[in-house]
Amino acid sequence: MLGNFSYCNPTKLYFGKDSLNNLGGELANYGKNILLVYGGGSIKKSGLYDEIVNILKENGKNIFELPGVMPNPTVEKLYEGCKIAKENDIDLILSVGGGSVCDYSKAVSVSAYCNEDPWDKYYLRMEDVDNKIIPVGCVLTMVGTGSEMNGGAVITNHDTKLKIGHVFGENVFPKFAILNPELTYTLPKYQMVAGFFDIMSHILEQYFSDEDDNTSDYIMEGLLKSLIHSSKIAVENPTDYEARSNIMWVATWALNTLVAKGKTTDWMVHMIGQSIGAYTDATHGMTLSAISIPYYRYIMPYGLAKFKRYAINVWGVDTKGKTDEEIANEGLNAMEKYMNEIGLVMNIKDLGVTEDMLDGIADGSFIMDGGYKVLNHDDIVKILKQSM
Ligand code: NZQ
Ligand code: ZN
Repeated sequence: MLGNFSYCNPTKLYFGKDSLNNLGGELANYGKNILLVYGGGSIKKSGLYDEIVNILKENGKNIFELPGVMPNPTVEKLYEGCKIAKENDIDLILSVGGGSVCDYSKAVSVSAYCNEDPWDKYYLRMEDVDNKIIPVGCVLTMVGTGSEMNGGAVITNHDTKLKIGHVFGENVFPKFAILNPELTYTLPKYQMVAGFFDIMSHILEQYFSDEDDNTSDYIMEGLLKSLIHSSKIAVENPTDYEARSNIMWVATWALNTLVAKGKTTDWMVHMIGQSIGAYTDATHGMTLSAISIPYYRYIMPYGLAKFKRYAINVWGVDTKGKTDEEIANEGLNAMEKYMNEIGLVMNIKDLGVTEDMLDGIADGSFIMDGGYKVLNHDDIVKILKQSM
């Protein structure tokens, strides 16, 4: 049965090859001072930087730059951004990049006018925003996180070995997001497939909870089928527009809050993956792929009916003459085969994890209680060992 919920997603999307043409119109809604936030230089190489700067100039904006947002943005970088945003009286943060740049922009948007340490307030104490929020607009260059249409902002603190996501409310969602699938063509294959698995994990971690007949589960099965189909095509031909555009659209719906409405969710793969990220700074999607098969095999007995449904509805497993357990296992086997085929990292050693880190990674994994099995420290260590 669906629980009670409210639903509102205020982000305006512009999708397609010509979507950047809408940036000028959006800029008219904001004041003159624009903070242009981007990463390590991919947008300069691709020429997107020049295009954006031209649009900003044509629209009479003052441009303040905040480059160098690293994958898995750090708390030190957050402090730097807050200072620049506040000192320059920024009217709009324009985020051009992947999930890290977009997450970071949202973190700066709520932190610039925060009177205390934003790490303590938002990440350790998980408090709501009660100060001025600078609006954020996004031009997305990498798909996976769903950050373009949600309130998530993940920040890493290397000193304390914690990587934490705060899921802010609708007032922090990007005001607009420009989604041109062609802007993702230049992604290296490693990043591309990591993004594909990030999407898959977002869907699975909302799917594997509850046993009810739930509309969200049917939506997620459809999203998964589209993702699996299109990702195989994209791996063969990264410039296949149809595949890349379908994947971009799936990514947005996988984590723009819709499919979680009215149901419980799991999220333990992300909690463990983020802790691995805090220790290794590894690529987000790969921290998820490296533990997923051991994780799902571990929890399968506790949610067998759903794993059977997943095997049949998503992977087309033939049920004739098989027990529920055999069917469910075949589904996970099919998933594992697919993951190997598209080139994902399948063990945490390849991400730099060593035996002596396992306890710390387990300690740094926040325990969520919405999945089929509530894990304890020892469960997490066992899953990590099986992921080595
Ligand atoms: O920095 P540049 O030079 O731009 O290079 C980036 C970066 O090295 C590169 N890249 C991006 N677009 C490119 C490109 N290279 C060539 N051509 C392009 N078009 O790709 C690398 C990775 O980018 P990044 O933004 O780090 O990847 P992703 O989008 O996966 O974001 C990861 C971050 O998002 C957080 C993760 O924890 C991680 O910190 N997440 C945010 C979520 C949310 N807001 O809801 C949920 C997710 O589960 C996730 O936790
Ligand atoms: Zn993710």
